[in-house]
Amino acid sequence: MILQVQDLFAGYGETEILHGVNARVDDREIVAVIGPNGAGKSTLIKAIIGILKPSRGSIRFRDVEIAGRNPEDLVPAGLAYVPQNRNIFPSMTVLENLEIGAITRRPGWLHMGGALVRRYLPFLPGGSVGPKAPDPVGGTPRPVTGLRISEEEFRQRVDHITGLFPNLEPKLRQRAGALSGGEQQMVALGKALVLDPAMLLIDEPSAGL
Ligand SMILES: Nc1ncnc2c1ncn2[C@@H]1O[C@H](COP(=O)(O)OP(=O)(O)O)[C@@H](O)[C@H]1O
Ligand SMILES: [Mg+2]
Repeated sequence: MILQVQDLFAGYGETEILHGVNARVDDREIVAVIGPNGAGKSTLIKAIIGILKPSRGSIRFRDVEIAGRNPEDLVPAGLAYVPQNRNIFPSMTVLENLEIGAITRRPGWLHMGGALVRRYLPFLPGGSVGPKAPDPVGGTPRPVTGLRISEEEFRQRVDHITGLFPNLEPKLRQRAGALSGGEQQMVALGKALVLDPAMLLIDEPSAGL
């Protein structure tokens, strides 16, 4: 089992939306959450990824309690999230969007302005000095260097993503905003997949496809 949600309560201010939700996802399993508009599907995903703090209940990811943890701790731990509204930067290229997706594994770059620095100084080495990583979810502290993905690894991930979504291959250097709705959804998925997550949370996966 990779994820277990037990008796989860969450909402917005005084308004409780989730009233004791239970769910489990096994390794390599695809689970769909189905319900009418306003049922609370997006709220459940936001509570799991940590955008919304649950008021009660348990969320265990790989046997570690994560309820109330922040997304910036959960993404390095292997969770990825594709929000409902297409989460891309339209004025940046497809490749730059994928670089942004990889930035959480490049904390040094994040602190220096991330992709903007890389864009103007593409040959600057990554280096190994950097800020200390936040307390990792459920593990011994890892040095920042362990979180970093190399240029080589990034290129392999990009190849993997263009293998999954061949439409993107010839458009890597085009503005993401100029792509079709379905292609933009592929970019949003690619941004999440670039870190090779253990679990992918996709809100409305077929939107625009
Ligand atoms: N940011 C918010 N503030 C207050 N209420 C919200 C907010 N987001 C969603 N809601 C309410 O929570 C309920 C569930 O919404 P949501 O989880 O988006 O449903 P679904 O994704 O199943 O369509 C709805 O009644 C919605 O109006
Ligand atoms: Mg929704």
